[in-house]
Amino acid sequence: MPNPMGSRQGDEGAAGSGTQGPDVLGDAVSPEAARRALHRVADMVADRLESPDRYPVLPRLEPGAVRSSLSPAPPAVGETLDTILDDYARLVEPGSTQWNHPGFMAYFAISASAPGILAETLAATLNVNAMLWRTGPAATEMEELVCDWLRQMLQLPPEFRGHINDTASIGSFLALAAARHRADPTIRELGLAARADLQPMTVYAGAEAHSSIDKAVVALGLGLVNLRRVPTDDTFRMDVAALAATIQADRGRGERPVAVVATAGTTSTTSVDPLRATAEVCAREGLWLHVDAAYAGSAAICPEYRALLDGLELADSVVLNPHKWLFTPLDCSVLLVRDPGALRAAFSVVPEYLRTTSGEATNLMDYGIQLGRRFRALKLWMVIRAFGVEGLRARIRTHCELARDFAARVRAEPGFEVCAPVPFSTVCFRATPAVEAEEQDRVNERILERVNASGEVFLSHTRLRGRHVLRLAIGNLWTGPEHVARAWELVREVAGEARASPP
Ligand SMILES: Cc1ncc(COP(=O)(O)O)c(C=O)c1O
Repeated sequence: MPNPMGSRQGDEGAAGSGTQGPDVLGDAVSPEAARRALHRVADMVADRLESPDRYPVLPRLEPGAVRSSLSPAPPAVGETLDTILDDYARLVEPGSTQWNHPGFMAYFAISASAPGILAETLAATLNVNAMLWRTGPAATEMEELVCDWLRQMLQLPPEFRGHINDTASIGSFLALAAARHRADPTIRELGLAARADLQPMTVYAGAEAHSSIDKAVVALGLGLVNLRRVPTDDTFRMDVAALAATIQADRGRGERPVAVVATAGTTSTTSVDPLRATAEVCAREGLWLHVDAAYAGSAAICPEYRALLDGLELADSVVLNPHKWLFTPLDCSVLLVRDPGALRAAFSVVPEYLRTTSGEATNLMDYGIQLGRRFRALKLWMVIRAFGVEGLRARIRTHCELARDFAARVRAEPGFEVCAPVPFSTVCFRATPAVEAEEQDRVNERILERVNASGEVFLSHTRLRGRHVLRLAIGNLWTGPEHVARAWELVREVAGEARASPP
């Protein structure tokens, strides 16, 4: 395949190339050059917000095409910001998967909205490292404030305190670390290795829980054999009776149950585990309840969707990703914890050079692994202010309505089925031609390939009850009824060909 990114630049400007090229180091440090370039960037940003579908949602590229179009060695001398922006516009933008495209309906769709983009620029300009309150008073206090805004929006009790991480994977890891510490504080000092006095510690999660929970268990040294995947019911929700029975069986074998992870919005189907019943089991058994609400936590700012998360207020910790469905640019994941002291007890280590006398002030370095902390709160603060809670709710409701419309079209079409309930904005569906099951799977794989090759729409897939299933997830700010209608039209168009022939 020809390289659509154009030919690789030569090594002329690269290290070791002597004095070739203009020595324009000034552009890297000149406020005037920055001003000119930022005006150009402002136009580039506004152009992209105006036409987020300017490029195909999936770039038509072979692996290696982007890299081979870029200089393999670093430039020896500085280049102008204009030259660099030209290359960005020519090579980087079209070489990117367009997550802001309204046809992006794969995985969980996201959006970088204007207030979030502005905040990222300003945060980079301020360049605060809020490891301690005194190294970032505004960043620290705003992080506490916006997390409390979210707490209120989610109707969680006032004792919950939050902080922001890059991802839900880290939030879940921190929550399980706090749970492990609460179960056995000696591990912090003595570790897990060669401890004849320790029973195996077990963690419980539904069969549909995200793989980040497996990774957390790995990183905490608990061992994947001690992660119990609890079976789910007909609607992909954790079976709480099976959870309770598994905990009992583990105790009977001398194991040490530590925590349960319930998911509010599982990755495949967006099912919500029965939170209240799970919380009752946790209370009875003395276990930490962590709720992974990475996706559906955003929907829970609407009272009618919060009702689907009944019992959320009983959790010990909740993680949700404003970078998923609250129109905040990557990365922004909020971990809310009922007892923030549990995180401090697990993680706080204060070397002499970071010792302060700031009294009651929060030092966010005490709440996890990382020391350095960028000013992520600024974008969430600007997004919530610019949309308002009602504005955010309105968009989420629209997305859920669009998903219900799509599901209704699928249900009405002979030869298709909806494969799971649609509580929020994600639809699992498949074609069901009259062929054997494996061939049905191949037909659905071909439908997906053909739809995605269109460049108009990007869908993803999952496996439910052993079958290949298509997933349409609405969450992009610019996705409207016309895009969802087009997605369905494309699926129907290619379904006939996919039934008839291999790709
Ligand atoms: C339910 C759930 N939890 C956790 C994650 C991981 O999110 P992150 O990329 O923020 O770690 C995902 C990702 O889609 C998810 O769907």
